[in-house]
Amino acid sequence: MAANSEQRVLSGMRPTGKLHLGHYHGVLKNWVKLQHEYECFFFIADWHALTTHYEDPHIIEESVWDMVIDWLAAGVNPGSATCFIQSRVPEHAELHLLLSMMTPLPWLERVPSFKDQQEKLRERDLATYGFLGYPLLQSADILMYSAGHVPVGADQVSHVELTREVARRFNHLYGRDPGFEEQALVAMKKMGKKAAKIYQQLKNQFQEQGDQEALNRARALINEQQNISINERERLVGFLEGGGKVILPEPQALLTPESKMPGLDGQKMSKSYGNTIALREEPEVVEQKIRTMQTDPARIRLTDPGDPGKCPVWQLHEVYSDSQTCEWVQEGCRSAGIGCLECKKPVIDAVIEELKPIRQRAQEYENNPELVRGIIAEGNEAARNEARETLERVREVMGLQYR
Ligand code: TRP
Ligand code: SF4
Repeated sequence: MAANSEQRVLSGMRPTGKLHLGHYHGVLKNWVKLQHEYECFFFIADWHALTTHYEDPHIIEESVWDMVIDWLAAGVNPGSATCFIQSRVPEHAELHLLLSMMTPLPWLERVPSFKDQQEKLRERDLATYGFLGYPLLQSADILMYSAGHVPVGADQVSHVELTREVARRFNHLYGRDPGFEEQALVAMKKMGKKAAKIYQQLKNQFQEQGDQEALNRARALINEQQNISINERERLVGFLEGGGKVILPEPQALLTPESKMPGLDGQKMSKSYGNTIALREEPEVVEQKIRTMQTDPARIRLTDPGDPGKCPVWQLHEVYSDSQTCEWVQEGCRSAGIGCLECKKPVIDAVIEELKPIRQRAQEYENNPELVRGIIAEGNEAARNEARETLERVREVMGLQYR
């Protein structure tokens, strides 16, 4: 049986090395919240990194450990969430391969990120088989764990859409045994004329009018039957719902709200813009980075009034300051009543304060690499057990069981 997919969350991150405040406010805080509400699987997508960085793979390993430490330091709890490395669960490759057999090529060619990324990463040769197939690898990642919810940013929603289509196609192709319909009719006969007739009526009501109540009553009716086997019962339920068995449940994208965290220059915080504050940044460096931030260019002298709307420091106040401090900034900036360094002080303090426990925890993990390796080894093992079960089901319906 597939796990209860409604309870499951899965998400992955490419190993990009040390994470920054943008990751924290965007993704990690969300994961930390989700881990209390769902059964979560978070993994490091190292194979995904290879789809674009196959020429320089050596940075991946170090990036993986740096990223894991930051996850843990940010509050991802291995007691509530299963954290693992994709390539340590090689079943992902097998599922990807099997899905590739039935995935129409145009489905992959029309994924928006395919052309976009090829354009953006012009300096790399991305006319590869692996790069084209990477959204399908992502589908395998998701379907492997029967995840009902997949927290992703807007750029990844189309990959979850693809996954839904692939799951639907898979279930359609392999969710019914040959002779599915005949067998359902045989099982119906065994119910006796009267029950069979009611079953037929309820089935029509559900399939033609989407009547949920009819579906529930038909299910109850099937459960009441004494002289049918468990297999026949399942068949009748499948027939009732209009398809075969659901082998790979369809996931939903859980859109991660765009992080409001601005970078030091007011653009989105991103490593490629060089405007980040790392999660493990030393307090002195945080202070220095914010002190040297550009402010409203109109404020050359202390006596020149400014406009917070034209200053990236104000965006930081919006994230970190209470309404009283915000008023103080607005008033003081426009009336030239405060200096920029004075204005930056509360933000510097707030960032340092926020990072303090994260830095402390990261330090503990840095000092104890064995602990980190152990957490991931356990996660790999737990993920692998799940993955093996899924592949059992998949191999069985695809006729690859060889017993
Ligand atoms: N493709 C995602 C990214 O580049 C990472 C990823 C891989 C992922 N597999 C996933 C995210 C499965 C969610 C679910 O960010
Ligand atoms: Fe920016 Fe504050 Fe200086 Fe105004 S006072 S320009 S908001 S740093």
